[in-house]
Amino acid sequence: MLRRWRDIGRGGKQRRRAQSEDRIEKPPMRAISTAISPPAGRHRRCLRHEPNVTSSPHPGGPLVVVDDVHLTLGSPAGPVNILRGISLDIAAGETVALVGPSGSGKSSLLMLLGGIERPSAGRVLIDGQDLAALDEDGLARLRRRHIGIVFQAFHLIPTMTALENVAVPLELQGRNDAFARAKEELDAVGLAARLEHYPSQLSGGEQQRVALARAMAPRPEILFADEPTGNLDGQTGAGVADLIFALQARAGTTLFLVTHEEGLARRCQRIVRLKDGAIVADIRAAAA
Ligand SMILES: Nc1ncnc2c1ncn2[C@@H]1O[C@H](COP(=O)(O)OP(=O)(O)OP(=O)(O)O)[C@@H](O)[C@H]1O
Ligand SMILES: [Mg+2]
Repeated sequence: MLRRWRDIGRGGKQRRRAQSEDRIEKPPMRAISTAISPPAGRHRRCLRHEPNVTSSPHPGGPLVVVDDVHLTLGSPAGPVNILRGISLDIAAGETVALVGPSGSGKSSLLMLLGGIERPSAGRVLIDGQDLAALDEDGLARLRRRHIGIVFQAFHLIPTMTALENVAVPLELQGRNDAFARAKEELDAVGLAARLEHYPSQLSGGEQQRVALARAMAPRPEILFADEPTGNLDGQTGAGVADLIFALQARAGTTLFLVTHEEGLARRCQRIVRLKDGAIVADIRAAAA
């Protein structure tokens, strides 16, 4: 059984002691492959309405299919209906902004699309593959092959430097030039002078840029990004947005961006609006 994220990070006191002794213990690569995913599923008690149905892959269909998805989580106050019947198809290469008030379910939907969370009912298919049919290792492999995720809370590995954090997915791809590439990615987000800093030694905006560099470095087919410019000042945010759209233009990456910024949303071809866990608008650029 692979170790998960929770087992890999070490507490601040432990890490500082290790740093002072100049012998940071690195977690094994195999453990990290699943660890890039945060432990959301562990802490959120998902209430399943009905068993999921597995379908066979069907190449040529939409890259992402969300089919009548519900998410209900248990809380001390009783069940909370977070997503209520979401259906959405995203074509390969499409750029989609997900907007809506705080608490409307945007991050929760992104967690489902990344296979971090499992729906209570309904299906999520990526490239024809029903995520319900995959176990944790299968999901990790799917993410490694197709998906980059920038989480709202970054989820950097605390015992690794910025450079090491960005190199992880590249090393998992077996690249010999992982560290050189990671350096280029950090350079591109303006962090050339912060390569050896640990996450706790970086500002929120800097951590966000490391998270973005880590997600973009393997050139994923799909980039899911939860408020990727949310902690950045206007100028840095615009620069980071330019990088995301440059990657999209260069590699035909499918983008699914959660944002509160209307300007960023308008750069996407399509704007999907959530309210109280349901889609209330789905507007293509021409009409947006
Ligand atoms: N573990 C949990 N148990 C119960 N309810 C939860 C849990 N996690 C999140 N929620 C609730 O689910 C709802 C949707 O949360 P989510 O994080 O998806 O919102 P969001 O649209 O991303 O908001 P924001 O814009 O503030 O990031 C919120 O009302 C939140 O309180
Ligand atoms: Mg959110």
